[in-house]
Amino acid sequence: MERTLSIVKPDGVRKNIIGEVIGRFEKIGLKVAGLKMASLSKKEAEGFYAVHRNRPFFESLTGFMSSGPVVLMVLSGDDAIRKVREIMGATDPKNAKAGTIRKDFADSIEANIVHGSDGPDTAAFEIPYFFSALEIFE
Ligand code: CMP
Repeated sequence: MERTLSIVKPDGVRKNIIGEVIGRFEKIGLKVAGLKMASLSKKEAEGFYAVHRNRPFFESLTGFMSSGPVVLMVLSGDDAIRKVREIMGATDPKNAKAGTIRKDFADSIEANIVHGSDGPDTAAFEIPYFFSALEIFE
């Protein structure tokens, strides 16, 4: 059993596809172990994406991530990190495979609908950034 953090980003919430995204995770056998909606401040988005602070897209990305509510979730299951990354598709929707969430719904590399932890170390930072132990159920 492995846990990963996923976010339906502000563009996904605005497009009214929260249920669609969560449904795709459930359909591949992952469990929603924690779930909440939040509106991130710019500072909270900067802290979450601190690993990217020297990248040219950091300002724009953190502005976008604090532009509206997001859905934060912990997903759990066998090989959860890899499965979520596969079903999300490539970061840039232009490179995403058919049938992935980003291919089907994303407008750009920044507004790409969904986030998923990219490895065990990242998940170990990202999950407690948003969830306490009491808020995770699987
Ligand atoms: P995510 O999986 O949330 O991780 C970091 C995010 O930064 C990524 O999705 C994209 O939304 C964004 N990102 C990555 N590369 C670029 C880029 N070259 N230009 C703009 N945004 C990017």
